Amino acid sequence: MLNWGKKNLEMTIKREEICLLWKDNYLLLSLICVALLMSGCASGQSQQSSQAQSAVAEFESSTMCRGCHGKIVEQHEESMHAKSFSNPVFQAQYFRELLPQLSQHQDLKKDADKCIACHDPIAFIRNKGHITNPQQTIQNLSGIVCDFCHRISAYKGEQPEGGNFIAMPGESKFGPFKHASDRHHAYHELQTKSEFCGICHNDVNHEGVEIKSTFTEWKESIYAKKKIHCQDCHMNLQGFLTDNKPVFDSGQAASMTLGPNYKRNKLYTHKFPGAHAKTQTADALMLGLSVDKSDASPGEDVALNIHIFNKKVGHSMPSGSADLRMLWLELIANVDGKIISIPATSGKDAYDVAGRGGFDKEIIAADVPEGSRMFRSIYLDREGKQTLSSYNATRIAFDNRLKAEELRKERYYYRIPKDARGVVTFTARVNYLRYPSSFARSLGIDKTEPVELAAAKKEVRIR
Ligand code: HEC
Ligand code: HEC
Ligand code: HEC
Ligand code: HEC
Ligand code: HEC
Repeated sequence: MLNWGKKNLEMTIKREEICLLWKDNYLLLSLICVALLMSGCASGQSQQSSQAQSAVAEFESSTMCRGCHGKIVEQHEESMHAKSFSNPVFQAQYFRELLPQLSQHQDLKKDADKCIACHDPIAFIRNKGHITNPQQTIQNLSGIVCDFCHRISAYKGEQPEGGNFIAMPGESKFGPFKHASDRHHAYHELQTKSEFCGICHNDVNHEGVEIKSTFTEWKESIYAKKKIHCQDCHMNLQGFLTDNKPVFDSGQAASMTLGPNYKRNKLYTHKFPGAHAKTQTADALMLGLSVDKSDASPGEDVALNIHIFNKKVGHSMPSGSADLRMLWLELIANVDGKIISIPATSGKDAYDVAGRGGFDKEIIAADVPEGSRMFRSIYLDREGKQTLSSYNATRIAFDNRLKAEELRKERYYYRIPKDARGVVTFTARVNYLRYPSSFARSLGIDKTEPVELAAAKKEVRIR
């Protein structure tokens, strides 16, 4: 079952295509199909019957879907879902950092189980918990494959979190189409809702700390009230809303050489852009810069107002692995070609200005210029030290990330130097970094480069 050869796959497709034809040309093909029926051809033709005949032995690999859902398979291959196990960043933190601690710290076992539940769910099901060796995963079923998502029917417990899915292999595939017409059709409301994503996009560690909260953040946002679900943004053509509306793809959900081809006016794109996609993070925030005067004398103070609007994101920014993601605002003045960085002043909390947090030297000094305004979460471990190993966090000491639709206002002052001449140009910039280089160094993985999300300029003439 696991090693479907290409030939086997083609045969499966042909059989299914004939089955579809059979529904339209009953008389012509009934004879052939009596035989095919006995080998499982009637699968998934109605929701009721699908339950009864859903017991297949194993989840199917994504190559099994390619013949009919080729376009979706291509999109999926680009997504982080396809790479959730092979991702070198995950592999390093899981195999090199967490696993060696297990023998000493039994309480981490639950966290290790959950790493695999979310990052390689089929390996989790097959091994009844975490794995200790990459060989324990089956190559073409590793990561989050099509068949896994499309067999999630519910979650255990009160709310979706920590990989608490209920998913069993089966012939029918749960999806968004209400009218049951075709092969393996089975409408399932959960698939259309944020709760479905929340199963893996919210997590509480063994210390009871909510270390991942994208679903909670969404639920508390205006988007939940407006019933704009994760799928509406992350599965539309862009990955975000255009004029407050999702723009979906349309056409055929499956293309086959034989059988009926329905045209659907709403198709879901499977690339799931996020922190790894520049198109997604670019312009994620709107930045406005204004000065209280257009000209000033040497020695005079200029007040600058900066507005940051979290317009595009349906949850906090940053979100997900909030312990790792760095977001900051820099303000610089260019005076006669000399670059002067203007530090954030209004910080009431040590953690909201880079360089003032107790662990900044160790963790972010190489990446974030001192004095920048930070929008971040600080997780502390048992010893009260900041940790980038979220499974070890005992509390979240600080969180000033930008909430969905939040408008943050910052005020800065700058004194024009006594000897300045000409024009002073102010530039505000918001930068984003997936993880700091201290994290890369400690895990032995590649550094990431910061991405500029937004920038704004203003000039003040010197009298
Ligand atoms: C992370 C979970 C996830 C993965 C992985 C996934 N899907 Fe989906 N898929 C969904 C969700 C959720 C929807 C429905 C969205 C909605 O209704 O809002 C969907 C919709 C669909 C549909 C309905 C038609 C359409 O085009 O919108 C098809 C067919 C489909 N997926 C096939 C696949 C195939 C084939 C793969 C693998 C290449 C795959 N899916 C991988 C979650 C997933
Ligand atoms: C032989 C062709 C064929 C193969 C192979 C195939 N599908 Fe489909 N699938 C279809 C057709 C046809 C539809 C119905 C399209 C429609 O109604 O617009 C469909 C619909 C779906 C839907 C939507 C169900 C709903 O009710 O919303 C999902 C999800 C899906 N397929 C997943 C998969 C997955 C996962 C695989 C691989 C394990 C797969 N399919 C393999 C032909 C196929
Ligand atoms: C079975 C668990 C699971 C389900 C269900 C799931 N995801 Fe994910 N998702 C993950 C994991 C694990 C990653 C991270 C992969 C990595 O970076 O190594 C991820 C990554 C992502 C990313 C990319 C983030 C980045 O850093 O680029 C987006 C966006 C996303 N998921 C959205 C969704 C949405 C929307 C849904 C619901 C339709 C969903 N996911 C359902 C587990 C899941
Ligand atoms: C209104 C549109 C919108 C909605 C609704 C939305 N997102 Fe996002 N999401 C975005 C945008 C834009 C980004 C890119 C900015 C960023 O990296 O945070 C993003 C980023 C992400 C990331 C990467 C976060 C990071 O900083 O590492 C994940 C994971 C994610 N979304 C998952 C989800 C899940 C799960 C839901 C539903 C609970 C959801 N999103 C709802 C627009 C949306
Ligand atoms: C509840 C599901 C869930 C659990 C449990 C989970 N993860 Fe993740 N993980 C995710 C999601 C979703 C993302 C993507 C979030 C984002 O984009 O910010 C992610 C992202 C990551 C990243 C960042 C990847 C990158 O390329 O930036 C690392 C590293 C990681 N996880 C390691 C682990 C380890 C180690 C464990 C176990 C201690 C674990 N995860 C447990 C769902 C989970």
